[in-house]
Amino acid sequence: MEVVIVPDAAAGGEIVAEAMARLVRRKPDAVLGVATGSTPLPVYEALATKVRSGAVDVSRARIAQLDEYVGLPADHPESYRSVLRREVLEPLGVAMDQFLGPDGTADDVQAACEAYDAALAAAGGVDLQLLGIGTDGHIGFNEPCSSLASRTRIKTLTEQTRVDNARFFDGDIEQVPHHVITQGIGTILEARHLVLLATGEGKADAVAASVEGPVASVCPASALQLHPHATVVVDEAAASKLKLADYFRHTYANKPDWQGI
Ligand code: PGA
Repeated sequence: MEVVIVPDAAAGGEIVAEAMARLVRRKPDAVLGVATGSTPLPVYEALATKVRSGAVDVSRARIAQLDEYVGLPADHPESYRSVLRREVLEPLGVAMDQFLGPDGTADDVQAACEAYDAALAAAGGVDLQLLGIGTDGHIGFNEPCSSLASRTRIKTLTEQTRVDNARFFDGDIEQVPHHVITQGIGTILEARHLVLLATGEGKADAVAASVEGPVASVCPASALQLHPHATVVVDEAAASKLKLADYFRHTYANKPDWQGI
């Protein structure tokens, strides 16, 4: 995989937004897989800036969701559908009928998961999937020891993840749902390009384990090592435990500009 070390979160956002813009210029109806959480926000801000300046038009792109809480009404402000409408679709000028996501309110959750995998396949698959990483190494909501071949399914959140996400629920862990639907690791690996973005020292251990550790389900993000086109974009703090940091810096600094990530 390629590791790109950037000075700060804004620089990471710009590199990823530029990769999305290049993709959409080449393929206007591309399927962009997006993630929630704090880390991707600079990407969406940088892409929205490009849209406003006329550098790219993403209005024909399709936006695919990575994961969703189970049981939160779709119009709850913290359902990921609501978060993505607010943070991604509206600023980018993408209509909700171009949004793909699982139904977290379905009575038959398993059927909703299977329907989502089928919808992604029918859309032609995800062209670029943006991923965050949990402090425990999760991608999507695939918590440690998720099968590396898993499909979209229901998962139970770890207490750590509920603690991490309580900040979106007035700091009240009791309001954080226990269950989620997440694209499986096998589903995620089907995207044509995986871009994992991590910023801050709190992610340094998880990044080092994912990039330089063995491929192991105990660190779900290590599955990116199995993907032919995976890019890990990290700021200096998140890169601080990488043994090969100087090698990654050298490689990226000497890469031809036209190649992008
Ligand atoms: P964060 O979440 O970007 O808010 O840290 C990342 C994740 O849990 O995947």
